[in-house]
Amino acid sequence: MQDNRKSPSSIEQSLRVRKIKNGTVIDHISPGNALNVLKIVGINGKEGMIISIAMNVPSSKGSTYKDVVKIENKELAPEEINRIALIAPNASINIIRDYEVIQKKKVVLEDQIKGVIKCMNPNCITNSNEPVKSFFKIETRDPVSLRCKYCDRIIEYNDIVKQF
Ligand code: CTP
Ligand code: ZN
Repeated sequence: MQDNRKSPSSIEQSLRVRKIKNGTVIDHISPGNALNVLKIVGINGKEGMIISIAMNVPSSKGSTYKDVVKIENKELAPEEINRIALIAPNASINIIRDYEVIQKKKVVLEDQIKGVIKCMNPNCITNSNEPVKSFFKIETRDPVSLRCKYCDRIIEYNDIVKQF
């Protein structure tokens, strides 16, 4: 009998999305959040880059699930990587060159977020004419929610996503 275990189709099935030659792989995104990750780095698909998205696929680590985003021929800037932490605090960023992972970095969610997100409280001083930048402390980490340092308003994950 023919042994199909190592046939190309079974390899493709276990990989689901094939390896890329050059670019960035954002891995270990909490399941269901891949589209939000693309949104927060400002990619809408109209740029013409080749992007592969896998959602709710089994993670090789234990019995969990994850999303993966592969962006070909683009290496993300550090400030883009830091923003990803707001959406996917456990993500890892893999830089691929000539099929090899040449750099692997966990995103880092800082304890305080300055100036990236707007406070949802219209009366907050950061939304007045005063030159005061927004400033939040992390309230919860996964999913992320933030507490405004000035008015104590909690900004929920969905409100963070809506801002991008
Ligand atoms: N990857 C890719 N193209 C390549 C190399 C890697 O798309 N040429 C993807 C892999 O499919 C994986 C991620 O980049 O999703 C990280 O690759 P690798 O470090 O080889 O995998 P793991 O060891 O499983 O990574 P980790 O320990 O971070 O889970
Ligand atoms: Zn506020």
